[in-house]
Amino acid sequence: MGIARYRKAPPHAVKIAEREVLEAAHRVRAAEGAATFGRREYKKALEVHRFGEQLVFALRDAPRSRELSVLDGACGKSHLSFVARLLVLPALGIRARIVGVDEVPQRIATCRKVARALELDGLEFHVGRLADVALPAPLDVAWALHACGPATDQFLARAVAAGARWILCVPCCHRRIDRGFEEAGVPACGRLRSRLSDVLLDAARFLRLEAAGYRVDAVEFAGGDVTPRNLMLRAERTASGRPPADAAARLARLARLFPELS
Ligand SMILES: C[S@@+](CC[C@H](N)C(=O)[O-])C[C@H]1O[C@@H](n2cnc3c(N)ncnc32)[C@H](O)[C@@H]1O
Repeated sequence: MGIARYRKAPPHAVKIAEREVLEAAHRVRAAEGAATFGRREYKKALEVHRFGEQLVFALRDAPRSRELSVLDGACGKSHLSFVARLLVLPALGIRARIVGVDEVPQRIATCRKVARALELDGLEFHVGRLADVALPAPLDVAWALHACGPATDQFLARAVAAGARWILCVPCCHRRIDRGFEEAGVPACGRLRSRLSDVLLDAARFLRLEAAGYRVDAVEFAGGDVTPRNLMLRAERTASGRPPADAAARLARLARLFPELS
């Protein structure tokens, strides 16, 4: 599967309207105690709406008979999880316990304040680093929107280790890889190498998920006008848990060319 151009998630009976997400985002913002809803919050709400569309698609067959266990990695102020809890999951008929994790205590304090103010159950927030924070296990779903560089890799590793069936991950900033470009004949142009570096890191993440037994897709979950960081890795563990025969071999070949990917 390749990188699809931005398109709406495949059609589903459940529709999450942008207007509803904006209303929910306003409620969350007010519960934070903020008097303003500016351009930054507006853009975040649009990102959350587009992410929500992908959740509707990914979770279409998720069980309704029990509560799902969800991780929001690098949750920040958790606008995604609040909108999921207020709108997306109820629309799907899914009950969930969502655990948000972020390393910044102030952000987690804000999340707790919002959950209290909106009287929302099924949400808890923990201060910690994704590399080593205690997580519920097994997980059903793991999502992360714009986890900073290595936090994305920590998130993916923890989500896989905790057995998450669904993983939806939108990487943010990437570390820069340098080795291998000369040997591969890539132009000595910083901008091109920087972009290629981002794509290579995401390609390695894609293959690592496949090698762990997931069916993976890379989609542009939102238009570039909403966020330039708009590549989503969308993964679902296969029933057999068996990786495609060539995933590990592909990863090894890629890492031979670009050693920092190993
Ligand atoms: C760009 S913000 C995104 C926040 C939120 N997901 C959103 O979309 O608004 C990245 C967040 O990752 C958190 N973060 C960075 N590295 C982390 C790590 N290793 N473990 C946990 N949180 C981390 C930061 O504190 C920050 O809140």
